[in-house]
Amino acid sequence: MTQHKAFEQPIYVTRPLLPNLSEIHVKLEEVWQSQWLTNIGKQHKQLEKRTTEVLKVPYLSLFNNGTIGLITACQSLRLQGEVITTPFTFAATPHVLMWNNIKPIFCDIDPITMNIDADKIESMITPQTTGILPVHVFGTPCDVEKIQEVADRYGLKIVYDAAHAFGVEINGVGIGNFGDISMMSFHATKLFHTVEGGALTYRDKHLKDRIDLLKNFGIKGQEEVVMPGINGKMNEIQAAIGLVVLNYIEEERRKRAILIDTYRRCLMDVEGISFLSDIAGVKSNSQYFVMRISEKIFGRSRNYVYDEFMKYNVFTRKYFYPLCSEYTCYRHLPSSSMVNLPVAHKVVQEVLSMPLYGELTVNEVEKICDILKSFQ
Ligand SMILES: Cc1ncc(COP(=O)(O)O)c(C=O)c1O
Repeated sequence: MTQHKAFEQPIYVTRPLLPNLSEIHVKLEEVWQSQWLTNIGKQHKQLEKRTTEVLKVPYLSLFNNGTIGLITACQSLRLQGEVITTPFTFAATPHVLMWNNIKPIFCDIDPITMNIDADKIESMITPQTTGILPVHVFGTPCDVEKIQEVADRYGLKIVYDAAHAFGVEINGVGIGNFGDISMMSFHATKLFHTVEGGALTYRDKHLKDRIDLLKNFGIKGQEEVVMPGINGKMNEIQAAIGLVVLNYIEEERRKRAILIDTYRRCLMDVEGISFLSDIAGVKSNSQYFVMRISEKIFGRSRNYVYDEFMKYNVFTRKYFYPLCSEYTCYRHLPSSSMVNLPVAHKVVQEVLSMPLYGELTVNEVEKICDILKSFQ
């Protein structure tokens, strides 16, 4: 067995995309000159226009973060009662339902895509169900057609948590066009970011007024407040940074795609390691490289691999372990029971998110893969 040396510097799962500081300075100069720091200024308007174009959606509203955007999406569609979602996601997904006084109902996931299993949604519907909140996990699109078909049959709304899916397209259609509303996160760890931030995308032009009012306390005019809104506004500094970052994402995506190819090439013959291939018709955003480790076949568990990697200064992540249905605040729900979620319980023991960011080199990825093979 080859003995590998640990990396001298820690290799984390990701690195934020940081444009040249001088370009940020130029943008900040503009903000300073304008003396307008928040409340839908020039930078906000520009970023809203540009992200609408990049995402190929008819309407878009920027937010100060994705979570507030998702809370507002549920408010704008007046969701209540129960909403069906996935347990294999980040904490924010079920939490936004709770913040809307809605009961999350966990549905099992697809064993391949790890997204909500569209064939199982119908069995989770009750007279209290008002909507479905699927997640395009790691940017892999959900079965949008089947989900729409179930929603139409039962008169349910669909809000997609597209936090990971900036720039993903299905047959040339921006991912933000599916369902009633989609939420993208612009958090620093995402491919496109505004440090913190997010957006809602939708096709119904009547939603634009309502969402934009809701994100600004429901303030319609200087002397008129028409609904109980929240402070969801993206400020000018966030928007200015976003306008610069936007110029770099295509290059970043290309670099990550090369690294993903490298992971796939180095790992394709390793028994017990699996990963998703490209999906026909889907333009990926190459944001993550996530693999699955079958303990039975690989001979080592995901937890073993995660712990051993740290000895080599490689910091992977067990996204999304534990399942949301295992959190103390959701464990008591009937839909959280293990018998309802057998696939999610298996998948969550196998997944490992591997380091991926544009500044990582092909050599480093090859070494990471060699280290992994040495664990067998
Ligand atoms: C699946 C998912 N949903 C929601 C969020 C929340 O987005 P934000 O951090 O922008 O509030 C995140 C992540 O950060 C996420 O990964």
